[in-house]
Amino acid sequence: MTTAIAHSNIALVKYWGKRDSQRNLPAAGSLSLTLDGLTTTTTLRDGDRDTVSLAGEPAPAPFAARVAAHLDLVAQQLGVERPPIAVDTANNFPTAAGLASSASGFAALTLAAVTHFGHTIPDVQLADLARRGSGSAARSIFGGWVELDAGTDELGRDTTTRQLAVPSHWDLRCVVLATTRGAKQTNSTDGMNLTATTSPYYGAWVASVDADLDEARAAVFQRDFERLATVAERSCMRMHASAIAADPAILYWNAATVELIHRVRAHRAAGHPVFFTIDAGPHVKVLCPPDEVAAVRDLASDVITQLLVAAPGHGARVVEPA
Ligand code: PMV
Repeated sequence: MTTAIAHSNIALVKYWGKRDSQRNLPAAGSLSLTLDGLTTTTTLRDGDRDTVSLAGEPAPAPFAARVAAHLDLVAQQLGVERPPIAVDTANNFPTAAGLASSASGFAALTLAAVTHFGHTIPDVQLADLARRGSGSAARSIFGGWVELDAGTDELGRDTTTRQLAVPSHWDLRCVVLATTRGAKQTNSTDGMNLTATTSPYYGAWVASVDADLDEARAAVFQRDFERLATVAERSCMRMHASAIAADPAILYWNAATVELIHRVRAHRAAGHPVFFTIDAGPHVKVLCPPDEVAAVRDLASDVITQLLVAAPGHGARVVEPA
């Protein structure tokens, strides 16, 4: 039996678009903060047949198929024959509300599988495998501030993911403001593919990412909040602008999402260190120092359905065998 845990992460320079769907290669890099509060725990046991349970219940068939395909891929990459496996996975945050990220899930599954198959590989290779399941999962292999570089490196790897700074480097909070329960929305792969094939702004979006990465990396190293706020909101807005210009348009926001954007911007304009970012859904994530969390709660409370607070978190790790 092997158990691994991994935390979700929030991208401050967004990944939105693939240059190769087969190998799940991103069109551009991304930069994120790993979040301790949002955790997936995944246990693998040899079984008579493949089974997947999610929060103790049999997982929906598409989910189970994606998990089995990832186990196949990991086994094939390691050159091992894999036995049938019983997978148990659970998140410590509500999955149905659309808060779940595939990031923590595929990071935990990848580490658990590699370990279960008797291998130990460097984090950069784990991240490469996790990326095949979900692009953002590569970043959750590492803790703290993380960059995924989409260029081929000197060893011929397709992407390189690395830690820029440890979790304690900068004590910020990510306040997750859920604006709806169980929203049905375009999943990220479908959203990015439709954007890439139909949005006239997609090329401009991809071309803008490298400069944002340079800016965000420098802001993180210098712990320059205002600089990070500016680039993170810009990256988020440009990602969503490219999606909104797809045909048909992909609009992830609801009225509460837009209301929160205005409130967060007004709060920062009034001198408070806060900024927002939004992924492929209607929820708003606010980054701020710990002593601003209460004010964020107050400014959002009448339009949200749920609030979670996460601190910088560590990378994926094996908890069993200890
Ligand atoms: O990892 P995926 O394929 O679910 O894509 C994640 C896309 C965003 O969350 C919108 C952005 C990101 O970089 O995490």
